[in-house]
Amino acid sequence: MKPIELASGIYSVGAVDWNARDFHGYSIWNGTTYNAYLIIDEQITLIDTVKKEFVHELITNISRIIDPKKIDQVISNHTEMDHSGGLFEVMSFIGKDKPVYCSEKGLENLSRHFYQKLNLKSIKDKDSLKIGKRTLTFLETRMLHWPDSMFTYVNEDKILFSSDAFGEHYAGPERFDDEIKDEKILPHAKKYYANILLPYSPLIKKLIERVTALGLQINMICPDHGIIWRANPLKIISAYAEWCEQKPSKKAVVVYDTMWHSTAKMAEAIVAGLQNAGIYALPMNLRTSDRSDTIAEVFDAGAVIVGSPTLNNGLFPTVSDFLTYMKGLKPKNKIGAAFGSYGWSGESIKLIHRELEEMKFNMMDADVSIKFVPDENDIKACFDFGEKIGKKLFVSF
Ligand code: FEO
Repeated sequence: MKPIELASGIYSVGAVDWNARDFHGYSIWNGTTYNAYLIIDEQITLIDTVKKEFVHELITNISRIIDPKKIDQVISNHTEMDHSGGLFEVMSFIGKDKPVYCSEKGLENLSRHFYQKLNLKSIKDKDSLKIGKRTLTFLETRMLHWPDSMFTYVNEDKILFSSDAFGEHYAGPERFDDEIKDEKILPHAKKYYANILLPYSPLIKKLIERVTALGLQINMICPDHGIIWRANPLKIISAYAEWCEQKPSKKAVVVYDTMWHSTAKMAEAIVAGLQNAGIYALPMNLRTSDRSDTIAEVFDAGAVIVGSPTLNNGLFPTVSDFLTYMKGLKPKNKIGAAFGSYGWSGESIKLIHRELEEMKFNMMDADVSIKFVPDENDIKACFDFGEKIGKKLFVSF
């Protein structure tokens, strides 16, 4: 990724990871980027670094603009290793005595990541740093999505360096929002929100209110992943304002796995029943659907119906994995139900029910379980079950 001048003296200098397909368990079918930014002023400033393996690309990009050793200071908006993994190498190259500004929690994290001595300087919410003709203002955004997270705002250029927020895992030839169609990029942004930011939705709501109250004018949003929002930064802010509400839609997702096709037959009948009630319903077989793609569908659904055969008196492993993953993401405002086929003991249905209840789903009164292979009557029962859930979802609007 060649450096690009975003505004006079402000450059995007990060790296593109075309080949990444997994981001700690989240599938990234289009790769990703590790964005970093360089500001040429009296104090030359680098905002964020990159994953350790991409330091060479970062340094090469900076070298196309200035001698990297001329960098005076680094801002670390976020200490997760895709942005700070290369920090020690970068500081070793440009001078370890130079200051690295970060939040107080960032200082704790970086100390625990590297142990080697860096010149870490903590800053507080709304602190500012004059770097010449420009002033940087820092906004702490705790738990968005780590305790250390913060934004850096360039007062004069009205550019917001937003760390992980407003990003997406997408590597492509496009670098800006005006170079890519909404229908191509927003699904990536939505999947990113669903898999990374969803549990922090109440904080995102507060953050948007806070930024609005501060009257912060934003000409450009530069996240640490994916495209830069320069034509219409409000578009991604508005999308976040909508997503953080977690309003359910007339959509249902039937998430399941199956051993000998019985639970699959049940899933298909439930989907048919939901569709008959006028609901947009999708089956997601966890053997072929990745957990993070499944969550992206679950995110805006009004009902989630989870099915598992019983294996060794418990859940099928993929279903157990999915429930654990979904629980951590704390989805809200969903109708829930369980189903499954079993041979003799049938614990899986009760286990799913309990998990969904713990996630505060609005559970159906009864679930559906079937011994061995469903017959015609059983399939009809599954269809009716789907239709009943659909009707309940329909009237809840
Ligand atoms: Fe892109 Fe939280 O790291």
